[in-house]
Amino acid sequence: MAQEATGTANRWDGASIRALFDPKTGWLDRRVHSDEALYKLELERIFARSWNFICHDSQIPNPGDYFINYIGEDQVIGVRDEAGKVNVLLNTCRHRGNALCRAEQGHAKSFVCSYHGWNYALDGRLIGVPGQKTYYHDGLDRDRLGLVRARSDNYLGFHFATISEDAPSLHDFLGDAGRTGLGMMCAFDNIEVVDGIQKNVIDCNWKIAVDNLFDWYHVMYSHASANRTGLVDLSKVLFPNNQMVMLGEYGHAISGPGLPQATQDQINQLSDEQRVEMAKTLDHPLPRVRPQKAMELMGAVGIRSLGHPNIFPNLWITLEGLQMCLRLPRGPRHTELWWFTFVPKSATPERRRRMIEMATHLFGPAGLLEQDDGENWSQSTRACSGVASRRLGEALVMGVGRDKVEVAENGQRRVETCINEHGQRWLYRAWTEWMTADNWAELKARTPAAEGVV
Ligand code: FES
Ligand code: FE
Repeated sequence: MAQEATGTANRWDGASIRALFDPKTGWLDRRVHSDEALYKLELERIFARSWNFICHDSQIPNPGDYFINYIGEDQVIGVRDEAGKVNVLLNTCRHRGNALCRAEQGHAKSFVCSYHGWNYALDGRLIGVPGQKTYYHDGLDRDRLGLVRARSDNYLGFHFATISEDAPSLHDFLGDAGRTGLGMMCAFDNIEVVDGIQKNVIDCNWKIAVDNLFDWYHVMYSHASANRTGLVDLSKVLFPNNQMVMLGEYGHAISGPGLPQATQDQINQLSDEQRVEMAKTLDHPLPRVRPQKAMELMGAVGIRSLGHPNIFPNLWITLEGLQMCLRLPRGPRHTELWWFTFVPKSATPERRRRMIEMATHLFGPAGLLEQDDGENWSQSTRACSGVASRRLGEALVMGVGRDKVEVAENGQRRVETCINEHGQRWLYRAWTEWMTADNWAELKARTPAAEGVV
C-alpha cells in the first residue's frame, strides 16, 4: 500500500508536539486530549503505524468466519480463508468505497458489495464483477482491484494487523513487555472469547482511558462505592507499597501490584498441584499462584506482575485471562470501548457462567468499576477544551525521578516502588516519540525499553 506523507497540513510540528509533555517533570499539556489536529495526526502517526489488535483465534475458528474491527478509524475485516490463513482486509469496496461487510461478525463464503455487486474472495481477490464483459468490455484489471490487505500476524492466538509497510514484525513490536502481557492472558488455561463483545462509547479522550489503567492511585477513592457493595475488597487488591512497573519498547507497559521475589521463589519450588493448594492458603485472593508454564510465557520478572498490561497504543489486558479492552478512538473527545471476555475452554458451564457474571459486573457498560471511571474520564476530557482550563496542564508528577530501572538476568526490566505514575509518563513519552518520528527506524531508535532513573 502506498504510504502518504503524514501531517503535512497540520500546524503541529515536532518542536511544538515535544513541548506538550516533559518526562523530566511529568507535566502534560491538556490539549493532547482535546485538539482536533493532534487527533488527526494520531490516526496517521500512531494507529496507521502500529500493530492493532483485531481478534482472537477462537472468534474465527473456521474458514469464512470473520470479525470486524478497526485500525484507527479504518474499518477492517479479520477473516479466515479456505486455506486457514487469517486475512485482515480494509472493509471498503474498490469501486465506490461502500462497506463490504455490515455485520459485526459472522460467516461468509465471499464478500459481495451491496451497491453494484462486486464480489471479493476471503483473501480479498476481486472474483466477480457484474457486467465485466458487457459494460467493462473485459477491460477491467481485476487483479489490481482486490481489497486492500493489511499485514497480519498473531502471537499466542491474538491476531494483530498493521497498514504500515515498514513496521517491525509483530514479535519485535510487542517486545518483552507486550509478549509478557499477552502471556499473562494465557498463563492459566487455553482460553476462548465469549460471544458478544460489549461495546460502549464514553465521551473521553482515548489516552485518558489508557492513562487510567496504570493508575492504582484512584482505586481506593474512585472505587470506594464498589468496595462498600462488597463486589470487590480493595484491601485485598491494592498492595499500595508493593508495585512493579515494566516499561517496554514503543510505549508498552505493565503496571500494578508485584508479588515479592521471596514469595515467587517459594512458588517456583512447587509443582502445579502444590501451587493450587498454596493459593488456597494465601490470605488475599489477588496473587493467583500461576502454574509452571507461566514462567515461559511471562519470564522470571513478569511472572511476579499482578498489574495491568497495555499493548501500545490501546489494548488493555485486565483481570488476567478474563478480559481485554480495546479503546478505539472516535475523535478527540470520544472513545469506543470494546470488552472481550475470555473463559477457559475447559470451564464447566457453571464456572463459565460465574466468570461472565463477574466480568459484566466489573467492566463494560454495566460494570460498576467502569461507571466510576467513565464519569471521571469524561469530566477530565471536558476540562481540556475550555479556554482557561486547558491552559492548566496535568500533573503526572508522582514518583518522578525517584526510581531506578533494574534489569534482570533474562533482560526483563522493572521498577519496584510504591504507587506511582511511571506507566502514565511512559505512555505520554512514547506518544511524543510516535507523534514526532518521521519513520519506523527513527521511532525504534527513540523508544527503547526503559533504563536509568525514571
Ligand atoms: Fe461496491 Fe460499486 S461500490 S460495487
Ligand atoms: Fe478504575
